[in-house]
Amino acid sequence: MSYDIKVNGAVKSVDVDGDTPLLWVLRDVLGMTGTKFGCGMALCGACTVHIDGAPTRSCITTVDSIGTSAITTIEAIGATPAGAKIQKAWLDREVPQCGYCQSGQIMSAAALIAGNAHPTDADIDDAMSGNICRCGTYLRIRAAIKQAAQSNG
Ligand code: FES
Ligand code: FES
Repeated sequence: MSYDIKVNGAVKSVDVDGDTPLLWVLRDVLGMTGTKFGCGMALCGACTVHIDGAPTRSCITTVDSIGTSAITTIEAIGATPAGAKIQKAWLDREVPQCGYCQSGQIMSAAALIAGNAHPTDADIDDAMSGNICRCGTYLRIRAAIKQAAQSNG
């Protein structure tokens, strides 16, 4: 079946079964491989995208559930004010180690500061707790989120 989904501001027609997870539509149909597969069960956060600005696990989001909602992926998050601040802070703080989890980390962090200009440590913990980093970059992630939030003025 054909679905029209709005990805990074453009409408894309994809011919897939309705229960296909958005993650595989992005990666295998649209060739957007920045969004990563980790667990496939909403446990690790590697596959996080934004749907209407909300961080969402694309591995458990079926394509037929999206409708007209706007999807934003790691490929376009830098074009948003919050995403640009987060990406700059990530570079300044040299956050990634292996990098595998970092697309999802950045998507969750960008959603956090887009909705909360000055998050507390508890806010950061709450927003980021679903994003697992096997390399243990958590301290740099927290520092980068604080740096990005400071640039909110
Ligand atoms: S791959 Fe989606 S949460 Fe792990
Ligand atoms: S940087 Fe390696 S898993 Fe997070």
